[in-house]
Amino acid sequence: MTLAFAQEHKEEISNKPCLNQRDNSEIKHAQQGFYYDVMNGLQSPKKSLEAKYFYDETGSRYFDEICQLEEYYPYKTELRLLPKVAHDLNQILKQRVHVVEFGAGSVHKIRPLMDGVSAIESFLAIDICGEHLEACCMQLQSEFPNIKISALEGDFNEPLTLPESNQAYMGFFPGSTIGNLTPDQAQAFLRSAKTTLGSKAWFLIGVDTKKSPETLHQAYNDDKGITAKFNLNILQRINHEFNADIDLDKFEHYAYYNTGEGRIEMHLVSKEKQSFELEGETISFKVGESIHTENSYKYHPDEFKALAAKSGWHCTHSWLAEKNMFSMFLLRAGLE
Ligand code: AVJ
Repeated sequence: MTLAFAQEHKEEISNKPCLNQRDNSEIKHAQQGFYYDVMNGLQSPKKSLEAKYFYDETGSRYFDEICQLEEYYPYKTELRLLPKVAHDLNQILKQRVHVVEFGAGSVHKIRPLMDGVSAIESFLAIDICGEHLEACCMQLQSEFPNIKISALEGDFNEPLTLPESNQAYMGFFPGSTIGNLTPDQAQAFLRSAKTTLGSKAWFLIGVDTKKSPETLHQAYNDDKGITAKFNLNILQRINHEFNADIDLDKFEHYAYYNTGEGRIEMHLVSKEKQSFELEGETISFKVGESIHTENSYKYHPDEFKALAAKSGWHCTHSWLAEKNMFSMFLLRAGLE
């Protein structure tokens, strides 16, 4: 992440609609992170890859397709809840706020807030896929000319320095992206977000709820096989960026709800005994051996409030979608 972003680019944040701050050395650095994490993940006894690496350009497009699927309820459910949340926020927020969205993707979720919450002064979108983000932010800026919009490519888990302001920041973390983190990682993220956003901050977070395993299972095993393509694309990305030769047909998408852990797990399971070369190293698989590619944790509202409280925030308002299918929480930085 471009860290000195805030101080150094104060002018640009307010003047330019969108920016992509990476110079060559940073691109190299980001790629090294990917190489290192992939090698590490595939050489460990229990193979895994980090879910954030799904989102190259193709992966971001697949994710958008997933959001349109009948079975994938989180996206649509949250989007339907947002106008109500915006209406309430418009009463709650008495002073103007700068909104910072973590993992903004295609930047769809902020629209209902921009429509309904007059307190929003500016919007900074952070996402790991910069090109996609920038295009989306340009479009958004043309729809909302009175709100200063900027885009920043980076991993939202890394610390960030925001410009000092008399106005409060409001973090925005929709889509249950927080579910990709383990509860411990989620706590660490919420703590670091509190440091980033400051002591006057608000934080609006969308979280998927615990529900029938059957419903959860369908959401991650859609009939059209888009989720499978999204999952397999991480291997395609490795082929591309490592110049490797992994045969995608030799892996199958496997997603299931682990009730004990309260999470969906996505895996890529090897259909046969096989091996491939990566950076001169041989990566071997037994039949049925898996690469764990994603966790997607689900929370009861009380569980999430407790997690927030342990992370230095307190919940001031919460919203539940129809049939308790999805939840949103408004947090306030607590005095500690
Ligand atoms: C973007 C992390 C919220 O966990 O539901 C969708 C990603 N993975 N289908 C989720 C995802 C498979 C999604 N998040």
